[in-house]
Amino acid sequence: MLVINESLCVGCGRCASECFYGRITIEGGKAKMGNTECWNCYHCIGLCPVGAISDNDVDMSEVVPYHEKTFHVSPDKLGNLMKFRRSVRMFTDKPLSKPELVRLLNAGRYSPSGSNRQSIRYVVLQETLPEIKDAAIEAFWAVAQRDDPEEIDRVYVGNTGYNDYWKRGYPDYKEKGIDGLFYHAPTVILAVAPKDDLRLLDAGIATSNIGLMAAASGLGSCYIAFLQMACTADPGLRLKMGIQEGEEILAVLAVGHPAIRFHRTVPRNELRVEWR
Ligand SMILES: Cc1cc2nc3c(=O)[nH]c(=O)nc-3n(C[C@H](O)[C@H](O)[C@H](O)COP(=O)(O)O)c2cc1C
Ligand code: SF4
Ligand code: SF4
Repeated sequence: MLVINESLCVGCGRCASECFYGRITIEGGKAKMGNTECWNCYHCIGLCPVGAISDNDVDMSEVVPYHEKTFHVSPDKLGNLMKFRRSVRMFTDKPLSKPELVRLLNAGRYSPSGSNRQSIRYVVLQETLPEIKDAAIEAFWAVAQRDDPEEIDRVYVGNTGYNDYWKRGYPDYKEKGIDGLFYHAPTVILAVAPKDDLRLLDAGIATSNIGLMAAASGLGSCYIAFLQMACTADPGLRLKMGIQEGEEILAVLAVGHPAIRFHRTVPRNELRVEWR
């Protein structure tokens, strides 16, 4: 429950002005918490200059004061991190430690979400990854064997060239152990939630932040839509990964230690913008 410590409150009114739902009012020079709707944005906690607001249902030890020295990232450095992040398609077999993974997942957890729903949950595949990989690649091979143009179009969402990729990739995997799905990454993160457009965007933002955190941590990441395509080819795969009825895998990110090193950034299309 959100509470205001009246003895600390100096009645500045900032919380009341910021509250989207008008839940907070100033009465007699003190902030008062009403009973109207609240979406737990916690802006009131964040902006109170004297730390008078808290929620006793959450872990308040995670709330830390802002200090420029430890929080500020220069636009140049952030821009360079964004420019230098790459999709890594060659990983070492070195596993990620639990603290490394939790740091990545927290980058997703602190991302914005529509209506602050925070409905993305994560499934981290590590021990079960070889089994999932095997089932997914077998599913692609079965599609190639059936050779049904309609199914190929549906599974690969119109990118029918991917069928040829797996016609080549399957023998490479079976005979040489080459992993054309996860590129030997030791970990794959699934962003899971009930499917709708807003949550799809939530998952995109969250996994993008995870990818940036990976880059900042010297790790590599790569989105793997192929796993979602494999689930279309073999719907049983979702169950194997613990996805519940009504849930969808909205984004997939392979993460690990890169086995390659980029020496420079890469070009992009020119900025397309209409100034009006
Ligand atoms: C939604 C999405 C799905 C992707 N799926 C795959 C995939 O299945 N396999 C893969 O190797 N790369 C995948 N990628 C990586 C893109 O190919 C890559 O981001 C793009 O070529 C730009 O390269 P960069 O990430 O190094 O800048 C995906 C990227 C996105 C955003
Ligand atoms: S958490 Fe957000 S919506 Fe709820 S009282 Fe605070 S500012 Fe208002
Ligand atoms: S922001 Fe803090 S000090 Fe200002 S009115 Fe709200 S509770 Fe009181």
